[in-house]
Amino acid sequence: MRLLEEKISKDGRVLSENVLKVDSFLNHRIDPQLMLEIGKEFARIFAGEEITKIVTIESSGIAPAVMAGLQMNVPVIFARKRKSLTLVDDLLTATVYSFTKNETNEISISNKYVDKSDRVLIIDDFLANGEAALGLVKMVQQSGAKVAGIGIVIEKSFQQGAKKLHDLGIRVESLARIASLANGEVTYIKENVEELI
Ligand code: G4P
Repeated sequence: MRLLEEKISKDGRVLSENVLKVDSFLNHRIDPQLMLEIGKEFARIFAGEEITKIVTIESSGIAPAVMAGLQMNVPVIFARKRKSLTLVDDLLTATVYSFTKNETNEISISNKYVDKSDRVLIIDDFLANGEAALGLVKMVQQSGAKVAGIGIVIEKSFQQGAKKLHDLGIRVESLARIASLANGEVTYIKENVEELI
């Protein structure tokens, strides 16, 4: 998605060979106009998938997921990383290990909101090692629903997440695919012919 790549080039900052800082528009301050365009793009890409629900994870997945939900006219459920006072019964859960943060979280959603009649689109802001996305896939599958696809805002293609999800036979669509963050520069994978024109 050209608009997103331009935004990353203009406002993103390469912190290391593995980490891209985008907290000026995605992870802390949020650019609503860009999120709207991201939502439209996910809606366009997954138009044929008969999506009935979107599932994401707090906190940075929520903004793009809500915009996609608005465009697709479907509800959005976000997985919680911490126990909630009100979310106690009938939980779907998965354990997610973060290599970046070296911590393990038990993530959960209520099984009231996803069931076997659903075709679910999973959305997240970053795809790195794929732990969060795999946890979301497990929870959706526990409910009996079908994972119809995964929409990612920024995929770091040099890490293992995309491969792990493809190996499960799941459709993964990422709006920006980063081949490398070496030498302080963002290099993208270009394969969408439409975007090259
Ligand atoms: P994984 O789920 O793909 O395995 O990723 P990992 O454990 O490595 O990521 C842990 C957290 O760090 C996630 O956010 C993820 O979105 C974020 N992250 C991973 N790589 C980058 C990066 O290059 N830049 C930025 N800005 N974030 C990255 P989180 O802890 O769930 O945070 P939040 O959603 O509450 O903001």
